[in-house]
Amino acid sequence: MATSGAQPALELRGLSKSFGGLHAVRGVTLRVLPGDRKAIIGPNGAGKTTLFNVITGILPATSGETVLFGTDVTAWPTHRRTALGMARTFQVTNLFPKLTVLDNVLLAIQGLRGMKFVVWRPLASYRDLYEKARRLLEQVGFWDRRDVQVRNLSHGEQRQIEIVLGLASDPKILLLDEPAAGLSSGESREMAEFLNRLDPTLAILLIEHDMDVVFDVVDHISVLHFGEVLEEGPTEVIRASPKVREIYLGAED
Ligand SMILES: Nc1ncnc2c1ncn2[C@@H]1O[C@H](COP(=O)(O)OP(=O)(O)OP(=O)(O)O)[C@@H](O)[C@H]1O
Ligand SMILES: [Mg+2]
Repeated sequence: MATSGAQPALELRGLSKSFGGLHAVRGVTLRVLPGDRKAIIGPNGAGKTTLFNVITGILPATSGETVLFGTDVTAWPTHRRTALGMARTFQVTNLFPKLTVLDNVLLAIQGLRGMKFVVWRPLASYRDLYEKARRLLEQVGFWDRRDVQVRNLSHGEQRQIEIVLGLASDPKILLLDEPAAGLSSGESREMAEFLNRLDPTLAILLIEHDMDVVFDVVDHISVLHFGEVLEEGPTEVIRASPKVREIYLGAED
């Protein structure tokens, strides 16, 4: 397989998903290059989460192709896509609230490696797991709070930790489904700052209703409406688009 600097991290070609007669995703085409920061916006029920489910292999595509780093992965199960460098977070929280930050990260790494572990041995005794967890938490500025139970973090910090768990597989492309959902405006701003501090070579595809976060983090937006890409382009162009304002942004004001 030929690799070049310009090879897309992710390419969607006419990707569609139907549930019986409901065409939830229709012919979506999109290219995400390494380090790109792109958003998918659209009203409730537009098909954004369904699109992520198809991209990540949770749901089979009805038609079209998903190409990851030049490899057609359309028929691949999720774990093989993860191994190739794709990770995602979910719209709904997915943490162990009574465990510490560190143990949540250790479990995420250990789960990926499919390692057996012996229950009476402290998780942290697995040196390579521990070192990996430390690297991750240091990178994102959470190492000093590693022993805090997740339930004692602010809601905004918990959502950040979910993203850290997504980073456990060393992804080259990260799919985030509404990371700022339910956050206060201050917490949303912190989320945007957190995302902007991540490795700049990491590509991010972001679903988000909070337009301040979108405008802060990405430079390209695709607008999904009834499963179709209604419009796409640089953030400033989409922001100024009368059609988009009417259908989506208008409803927010
Ligand atoms: N597993 C499923 N079976 C049948 N219909 C589904 C399924 N998942 C989603 N849908 C339908 O597909 C459409 C798109 O839903 P989806 O969750 O992708 O929207 P969304 O853009 O993520 O919305 P929101 O902004 O509210 O999260 C909706 O009409 C939804 O009811
Ligand atoms: Mg959704």
